[in-house]
Amino acid sequence: MRIAIIGTGYVGLVSGACFSDFGHHVVCVDKDADKIDALISGAMPIFEPGLDQLVARNAAGGRLEFTTDLAGAVDGAEAIFIAVGTPSRRGDGHADLTYVHSAAREIAAALTGPTVVVTKSTVPVGTGDDVERIIHEAAPDAQAWVVSNPEFLREGAALEDFKHPDRIVIGAEDPHAAEVMREVYRPLYLNKAPLLFTTRRTAELIKYAANAFLATKITFINEIADLCEAVGGDVQDVARGIGLDGRIGAKFLHAGPGYGGSCFPKDTLALLKTAEDVQAPLRIVEAVVKVNDARKRAMGRKVIRALGDDPRGKIVALLGLTFKPNTDDMRDAPSISIVQTLQDAGVRVRGYDPEGMEQARPLMPDVALCDSPYAAAEGADAVVLVTEWDVLRALDLRRLAATMAAPVLVDLRNIYPPEEVEAAGLSWHGVGKAPRS
Ligand SMILES: NC(=O)c1ccc[n+]([C@@H]2O[C@H](COP(=O)([O-])OP(=O)(O)OC[C@H]3O[C@@H](n4cnc5c(N)ncnc54)[C@H](O)[C@@H]3O)[C@@H](O)[C@H]2O)c1
Repeated sequence: MRIAIIGTGYVGLVSGACFSDFGHHVVCVDKDADKIDALISGAMPIFEPGLDQLVARNAAGGRLEFTTDLAGAVDGAEAIFIAVGTPSRRGDGHADLTYVHSAAREIAAALTGPTVVVTKSTVPVGTGDDVERIIHEAAPDAQAWVVSNPEFLREGAALEDFKHPDRIVIGAEDPHAAEVMREVYRPLYLNKAPLLFTTRRTAELIKYAANAFLATKITFINEIADLCEAVGGDVQDVARGIGLDGRIGAKFLHAGPGYGGSCFPKDTLALLKTAEDVQAPLRIVEAVVKVNDARKRAMGRKVIRALGDDPRGKIVALLGLTFKPNTDDMRDAPSISIVQTLQDAGVRVRGYDPEGMEQARPLMPDVALCDSPYAAAEGADAVVLVTEWDVLRALDLRRLAATMAAPVLVDLRNIYPPEEVEAAGLSWHGVGKAPRS
């Protein structure tokens, strides 16, 4: 099958690489000529484990191509995926559909034969109708069916998620379009991945409902963590105690500095805006957004408390800057708010991240980025574990303590047991456990 993908970011590149690995012929398009040049020369514009080999293998096999020429890619494609960004619109929090609408217009201008146009970007309910209207207004004679196929991959585990999805959601109004989508995903269907066919609007809603629910789960356990700190409980045991209940499930019950990343913050906001517009308010999600926003700065204040008296001029080393491990994505990472809170209090901040420093640099220009966790900790008054990268899970805590001005560890991911931290000569501050005297 011939597939074109418009937008070669995290989702477009992963989807393109995986579809080509299924045996389809895929052309990935992007407006960003530097990104396309890099991909053609074999360099990866993002960090995603395993992606470089997958791209290299399929490009070498002639199944995966990269171009800035949208019209050339669309010509003859049986399915065209829109995978452009849908960030928060400045000022009001609605999803900014500028990129989706302009991709639809460009596709319409380039259509040469019957095709299925698939929205993979996360878009508010009704966007498929807009895309259909744009295409039919610009190209009234074109045979194009518009389908919603939201993506559920997680950065850091994107290839595994794409190739072994819990489900594939397809919102199609037309049986022919549904058949084309079944063909696109046939290799996964044979592997028994459930294909859920529904209406286009329902498919669009499923994506937002899923993200809002996951954000709620994280925020719920974060508030329980605060309660544990106040009354002397242990949030990790509470999470285990409730997560073993099959109705609740153990995932997304790790207390931490609040959710961030390229999806949950903008998608929860966009869902609230949709709900507000149709006067069906989602009060639980409203609370989740507020609580999570407040939590990020609260984590900065937790670090300031751990510094003891006047924080001004003290040095804090943040370890792990990306919003989660195994990605270089810094969009809406909690580390950004923590840095801001610390700098507002006059703290000097250093940072270390295994993959995210290039992306972090412009977002935190006054943070001194260091080559290793130990270099960041040298002479510091506190070390803060912000993101649970594997390389940060086995730090030599004694070496860390020996190099610091004051041996204070703030573990916002509860990676290390407090006893281990204290045995290494550091004072422990974590999440969701009563402070130790
Ligand atoms: N990143 C994730 O983990 C994830 C997961 C599921 C869904 N999504 C959704 O997928 C969509 C894409 O997210 P992303 O993280 O891949 O975004 P991204 O910003 O990494 O990539 C988007 C790409 O689209 C390109 N682009 C924009 N307009 C274009 C056009 N007209 N023609 C060609 N290229 C164009 C941009 O240059 C950019 O490279 C969003 O709606 C997002 O919410 C993302």
